Amino acid sequence: MESFTGKQGGATNPGMPSLESLRPKHPEIRPDYTIDQHWERYSDAEHAIWRTLFEHQAKVLPGRACQEFLDGLNRLTIGSEKIPDFERLSDGLDKLTGWRVVAVPSLVPDDVFFDHLANRRFPAGQFIRKAEQLDYIEEPDVFHDVLGHVPMLAHPVFANYMEAYGKGGQRALNEFGALKNLARLYWYTVEFGLIEKPDGLRIYGSGIVSSRAESIYAVENPSPNRIHFDLERVMRTEYRIDDFQESYFVIGSFEELFKETYKDFASLYRRLQSGSTYKPGDVLKTDRVHHRGTQAYVGGSHAAE
Ligand code: PHE
Ligand code: CO
Repeated sequence: MESFTGKQGGATNPGMPSLESLRPKHPEIRPDYTIDQHWERYSDAEHAIWRTLFEHQAKVLPGRACQEFLDGLNRLTIGSEKIPDFERLSDGLDKLTGWRVVAVPSLVPDDVFFDHLANRRFPAGQFIRKAEQLDYIEEPDVFHDVLGHVPMLAHPVFANYMEAYGKGGQRALNEFGALKNLARLYWYTVEFGLIEKPDGLRIYGSGIVSSRAESIYAVENPSPNRIHFDLERVMRTEYRIDDFQESYFVIGSFEELFKETYKDFASLYRRLQSGSTYKPGDVLKTDRVHHRGTQAYVGGSHAAE
């Protein structure tokens, strides 16, 4: 499973490397943390890891990922053969929604991350995980970032949501000190969101679609709660980064998600300064519950790593 799938390293990750410390390995690194992808430098073994991961997800995702995700994947130059070349990928994506994919070494500071999103650039990890990390990786790599995030960026409403999130991040950071709340929204939508469809719940969250095990668990396992999305409820809910989620939040549509979030959060942030914080597995009387989880999965498969 993905343990850390977000790129918002700054506030929550004191181990985030500085520009200076990255320079020896990435001499061309720019102030916005972008590097050249150096696609020609990937080895055959690295492309083979991509292929293994891709072929596995290609079997698992139909019927579990939402059609919007699968359509995005089909419309872009993301295939099983090789790690995608970001320039080619971006040229296709740019034509659909105006987004581009830029390479970064790993995590980037919050302000840098938000600036990229606000300008329709998705910062994607350049490296690919090692063969021993097919199921679990600490930091987002090119497979998580490209297979997981980029297909949804081809969807016009989701593409607008991501840009709005970047702009909202800048406000949360500079004006409201509300990063923690906003990061929870990212976590429970962009990374681990589910969507309600006529024939059942489907995945759109990138942390789920890029995970071999969680893409099955999130849809089929009776253990986790599946609760209808509510903005303030989500912003009050802590999350786990080291195991499967205990609760997933379900949107009715991407339009609903956009409508709920495309409003001024100033009064919401004020409210959030007091009141309750919820644990990942909590179910509230006010929740609209799609599935009440058994919480039978005890997890911890990677707790010792
Ligand atoms: N509406 C938010 C604000 O006023 C910005 C935002 C939009 C945040 C979409 C997340 C998603 O700050
Ligand atoms: Co991610």
